[in-house]
Amino acid sequence: MRFSRLLTYFAAGMTSRVLAQCPNYIDYSTQTHPPFSEGKYQLSFQRPEPSCRKFHLPEAEEAIEEMKGIVKDPDLFRLFENAFPNTLDTTISWKGFASENPEEELTFVTTGDIIAMWLRDSANQLRSYKSLLTANESTDSLASLFRGAINLQARYLIKNPYCNAFQAPAESGLPPEHNGYADTDIVTPAYDTDFVFECKYELDSIAAFLQLSSDYYEKTQDREFFGKFQWADAVETILNVTEGLLVGTYAEDGAVNESPYTFQREHTSASETLMNSGAGSPIRGGTGLVRSAFRPSDDSTIFQLFIPANMQFASYLGRCAEIMEGLDADLARRMGGFAENVRDAVNTHGKVDHAAFGEMYAYEVDGYGSSVLMDDANIPSLLSAPLLDFLNASDTTYQNTRKFVLSKWNPYYNWGPVFSGIGGPHQGPGQAWPMSIIASLLTSNDDEEIVAGLKSLVSTTDGLGLIHESINTFSVSDWTRQWFSWANGLFGEMLLDLKERKPHLLDESFQ
Ligand SMILES: *[C@@H]1O[C@H](CO)[C@@H](O)[C@H](O)[C@H]1NC(C)=O
Ligand SMILES: *[C@@H]1O[C@H](CO)[C@@H](O)[C@H](O)[C@H]1NC(C)=O
Ligand SMILES: *[C@@H]1O[C@H](CO)[C@@H](O)[C@H](O)[C@H]1NC(C)=O
Repeated sequence: MRFSRLLTYFAAGMTSRVLAQCPNYIDYSTQTHPPFSEGKYQLSFQRPEPSCRKFHLPEAEEAIEEMKGIVKDPDLFRLFENAFPNTLDTTISWKGFASENPEEELTFVTTGDIIAMWLRDSANQLRSYKSLLTANESTDSLASLFRGAINLQARYLIKNPYCNAFQAPAESGLPPEHNGYADTDIVTPAYDTDFVFECKYELDSIAAFLQLSSDYYEKTQDREFFGKFQWADAVETILNVTEGLLVGTYAEDGAVNESPYTFQREHTSASETLMNSGAGSPIRGGTGLVRSAFRPSDDSTIFQLFIPANMQFASYLGRCAEIMEGLDADLARRMGGFAENVRDAVNTHGKVDHAAFGEMYAYEVDGYGSSVLMDDANIPSLLSAPLLDFLNASDTTYQNTRKFVLSKWNPYYNWGPVFSGIGGPHQGPGQAWPMSIIASLLTSNDDEEIVAGLKSLVSTTDGLGLIHESINTFSVSDWTRQWFSWANGLFGEMLLDLKERKPHLLDESFQ
């Protein structure tokens, strides 16, 4: 799926200009550009030239400059230099103000190769700059990018809380993108394709909004912002929707409960649609887990009680309750109580005893006793549970789970002579995802594991110097998605994390 066209860029406070001379990054990122790094892999330089970059952030340039002195391996540094600023360079597709309130900042963050804003991707794309975030009222600041994304996500969720990807705001003047895959979709509740790009209901999309809000608040303590626009309305909408999604398939008297959300698509792949007329597999009610029709890979769940998104939701709903305390005490109590219930439900219904690994978390459960034991590379995953601030990496159940998901017991673990890692049904068996290696390094304290992971990442970019979505475990030249900004940002976040936790490892050579 490729959506290419000329982009018009309006920066806050700048005059608009058409970047007719700038190459389309969807092509640019498939080609190599000098100067090449001076290590064995001779990685391409992949940043657009300065006048073609979409958002200029001095703090990011300083971080790159600082890392130049710290990361000794020239190929690893090149990968950082390309990957870390990728969201700023290529995906801040519009930044401006709401027409109904000229004080309300809006940031339209596209996913990369598709001109649409995913709630999950955009929250995580900005998270990669969290370590640089400080309170700042300027509309040219990183804080402004976060505020604009929170405001736009709030607008999206208030109107279509079940949807996962959205069109540019009307204020941008950017035309809606046509999503050919969605042409045959039959979805309840209905939506408008001028506003929504795709409407797969994923609990982690809702949790992503809470995560983004919590990230902003944690670094800025700017509670006042949350009281200014539609944030509290969006939170109330989310609570209404997710409380409704606690419902099971059958009512007490045996009647079939109407599913709050249904989705059907004409497609040859089973993971692109839902069984039982779009309602999904039967779920037992009363567990306290919130249903999710789709996963963060945008593939359908097998059982809708999807554990990683429930972890993420419980974690950030609880943190956002603290923000709400200063705004609406009743709503804050409702959030805090719900967050605790979901956390308890994850621990009561989300664990299994595995013959080889002992007590571990399941990927999905149905509440009747069946579970899916696997992990997918996309975050939220079981591997990433500590990154969701749900638990500590030292937790015993987590450690058992981690050993399982990084072993051949995980049905979506893929290995081969050139690359090994977790994949998923989105690209299918045989393809391992660099994102899973990055998540494993962010959750590891083991120097050997970290060095092996860095070596594997730096040697498998096919010379392009960017993080791809998936790689064939037998051939580095067979990969998917040349322009996947989230994965690039996550790589940058991971290397900055190692700079704090394991600086001695960045002295090594990864040749
Ligand atoms: C706020 O952000 C602007 C734009 O990046 C920057 O010029 C300014 O120095 C920042 N102010 C503070 C106090 O960090
Ligand atoms: C949430 O549900 C309550 C009760 O049905 C309703 O009064 C309220 O307007 C809803 N809030 C939002 C933001 O949808
Ligand atoms: C992780 O451990 C620290 C220190 O023991 C504790 O304060 C914190 O609450 C724990 N975090 C979670 C999510 O359990």
